[in-house]
Amino acid sequence: MYILAIETSCDDTAVAVLKNGRVLVNLVASQEKLHADFGGVVPEVASRQHLKAIYPLVDLALKKAKLTPKQIDRIAVTSEPGLLGSLLVGINAARTLGYLWDKPVIEVNHLLGHVYAGFINNKIKFPLVALVTSGGHTELVLVRKHGDYKYLGGTKDDAAGEAFDKAAKALGLEYPGGPAISKKAAAGRVGKVRLPRPMMDEGLDFSFSGLKTALIRAKGKKATPQAKHAVGQADLAREFQEAVVDVLSTKLMRAAQKYEVKTVLLGGGVAANKRLREEVARKAKTNKLKLVVPDFKYCTDNAAMIGVTAHYKKRI
Ligand code: KG4
Ligand code: ZN
Repeated sequence: MYILAIETSCDDTAVAVLKNGRVLVNLVASQEKLHADFGGVVPEVASRQHLKAIYPLVDLALKKAKLTPKQIDRIAVTSEPGLLGSLLVGINAARTLGYLWDKPVIEVNHLLGHVYAGFINNKIKFPLVALVTSGGHTELVLVRKHGDYKYLGGTKDDAAGEAFDKAAKALGLEYPGGPAISKKAAAGRVGKVRLPRPMMDEGLDFSFSGLKTALIRAKGKKATPQAKHAVGQADLAREFQEAVVDVLSTKLMRAAQKYEVKTVLLGGGVAANKRLREEVARKAKTNKLKLVVPDFKYCTDNAAMIGVTAHYKKRI
């Protein structure tokens, strides 16, 4: 069973080929440089670039997999959520190829894709709680079995990745902000500044916009009235990262406890954050939970996760 998967929901054109749920080829044509000057994704620019990139990338993926279109059994494509213009390029490409090659097209939800990224190269036991944190989403999902999902909580305002991006902008760092903050944070010192942990003690929802405001307020201030200099950029980046990691990891553990699961799973671009991976691993060990974390390349947007979701979808 060969699946060709297409993902174009945001600013990465991605195509993958899977054989029986195993990834054979995983290609990502990143638009990062194209949007960096604007400090964020420009939807119009993104859709136009997807249009240019999609068919050559499909050709390349087939070539690398040493397959002809005839050998493909199904085409998987991200159908929602995402930037409409970007999504439409992928959906149209998938439907056109499906029509030309006479293959079924399977539509896949992008967030579910981020959950299923954990299933690539991993054996997983249900039930589990997944934390999907990306540029557009911060969500806790209970997965009882394939096809049985329950939304447990999510952000009330900014997504965690969005908060990283906005915080980076406030600190004058480049886009995307997640990797930029985490690089800067490596030189930061703990305890030089304290930022809030929004909604830490209650429930399974999140809020990050206040944290971003607190960071902007702390900028330029001294740690103590006696201090000679304002708190450094690296110290701020470090504390910001700590605050986000604290909240995310605490709520994931709370959800696991409440729903009595033995497995927790991370997904989405922010799951590429080393500090988050480290802290979740520490807490999971303390709570005797099995932790599943995708490879870095399957955390940020990719088509392999869309293909693997379609692989399990067809078996429901
Ligand atoms: O999943 P993704 O590639 O695209 C969306 O579906 O949004 O996630 C992108 C987000 C961006 O906000 C980016 O800043 C964040 O993931 N990100 C990170 C890291 N790498 C990417 N955030 C924190 N630490 C990282 N290392
Ligand atoms: Zn994503």
